Amino acid sequence: MSARIEIVVADITTLAVDAIVNAANEALEGGGGVDGAIHRAAGPELLAACRTIGGCPTGQVRITPGYRLPARHVILAVGPVWQGGTANEAALLAACYDGALALAARHAIRSIAFAAISTGVYGFPVEPAARIAVGTVVGALDAGAAFERVIFACFSERSAGAHRDALLQQTAARERPGPC
Ligand code: APR
Repeated sequence: MSARIEIVVADITTLAVDAIVNAANEALEGGGGVDGAIHRAAGPELLAACRTIGGCPTGQVRITPGYRLPARHVILAVGPVWQGGTANEAALLAACYDGALALAARHAIRSIAFAAISTGVYGFPVEPAARIAVGTVVGALDAGAAFERVIFACFSERSAGAHRDALLQQTAARERPGPC
C-alpha cells in the first residue's frame, strides 16, 4: 500500500486536493449536508454540470470540475439509503468507494478526500459505514491503486474515531500471522 491515509475532522470544501468525493443523490440536483456545502462553495457551475450528466444510480459515481472549490474535481457518489441492512446497502456503499477510486485513477488524480457517504440524511450507521469505507480503500490500495494521499474528511470526532478504529482493525488484520 503506497498512499498515505489521513483521517481528519474537516469541512471537505476547504481541502486543496485533486478531488473531493461528494455524498450526492440520484438526481444530482444538490441537497443539504455535505452536498449543499459543496454546491455553495463550488458555485452554480457545479449544478449546471450535474444537470448535463442527468442523474446517477445508487452505488455509482460521476465526475465534474471543482469550479470555485480549492479541489480540482468533484466526484459525485450516490450512497444507499439505509433500510436496516437488508437492501444490499453495504455492497452499494463499497461500490461508491471503489468506483470513486477507479474513476479518479482514470483522471490522473493523486490526492482524494472522501466525505462519509450515506452517514447523514441517508442514515447508514457511522461505525459499519467507516469499516466499509476504510476496508474498501485499503483493499484497493493493496491491489495496486496508485494515490499519494487518501483523506477521510470526517465532520465529527465520532466519525473520525470510527474511521481510526477501522484503520487500526485493518492494520491488525494484516499483521496477524496467517495459517502455516
Ligand atoms: N464536510 C465534510 N463532511 C460533511 C460536511 C462537510 N462540509 N457536511 C456534512 N458532512 C458529513 C455529515 O456529517 C455526514 O457524516 O457528511 C456525511 C454525509 O451526510 P449527508 O451530507 O447527509 O449525506 P448522505 O447521508 O449520503 O445523504 C445524501 O443528503 O443532502 C442530501 O443531496 C444529498 O440527498 C442527498 C443526501
